[in-house]
Amino acid sequence: MSKMVLGVLASGRGSNLQAILDAIDAGRLSAKIGVVISDNPDANVIKRSIEWDVPVVCIERKQYESKEAWETAIADELNVHQAELVVLAGFMRILSPYFVNRLSGRVMNIHPSLLPAFPGRNAQEQAVNHAVKVSGCTVHFIDEGMDSGPIILQEAVPLEEGDTPETLAERILHVEHVLYPRAIGLYCEGRLKVEGRRVTILEKGEGTHEN
Ligand code: GAR
Repeated sequence: MSKMVLGVLASGRGSNLQAILDAIDAGRLSAKIGVVISDNPDANVIKRSIEWDVPVVCIERKQYESKEAWETAIADELNVHQAELVVLAGFMRILSPYFVNRLSGRVMNIHPSLLPAFPGRNAQEQAVNHAVKVSGCTVHFIDEGMDSGPIILQEAVPLEEGDTPETLAERILHVEHVLYPRAIGLYCEGRLKVEGRRVTILEKGEGTHEN
């Protein structure tokens, strides 16, 4: 069976992109990255994509008059590369309902908290300031809200005495790098059944595109 084509949207460092590339390289994830799109010309993720010989395009918001025109350019680029699943990997802009509906059910995000706790920016700082004992990360489909779409996978990460937002972010990031490729793999195998906001993980062999 042919490999599912991923389109990755990223704004910064690109360690999650790296984790996805590593998982593909190691044979743990049967997928192919069709294109990486960044909104930030200085993003490290652009450098990483070039090093890995992955097609990369920068589509800056400021080049477009409206948000819809910018999002249309992104969606068109994803189409050109025949992306079947869109993976947000540290993409720091909110996508409008126009984009969400255009790519309905085909966009995943990773967020560094146990949603619905601490949505939005600086999730790790929110967790430290709230003095919770446990935070973590969540992979979810996007919907029209802020980090509110159907949850695919979550994993808890304990806070430790003296944690700063940075130390917590680092500990969560290690878990993200395992969780995201796993969630993408489940999608690629057709093992995610979405009913309303409930995502059921089908047994191996029950999926619609096993490979
Ligand atoms: C990751 O921690 C990711 O969960 C977070 O940004 C970081 C990106 O790191 N995303 C969000 O906060 C989205 N709301 P990376 O560029 O090294 O993958």
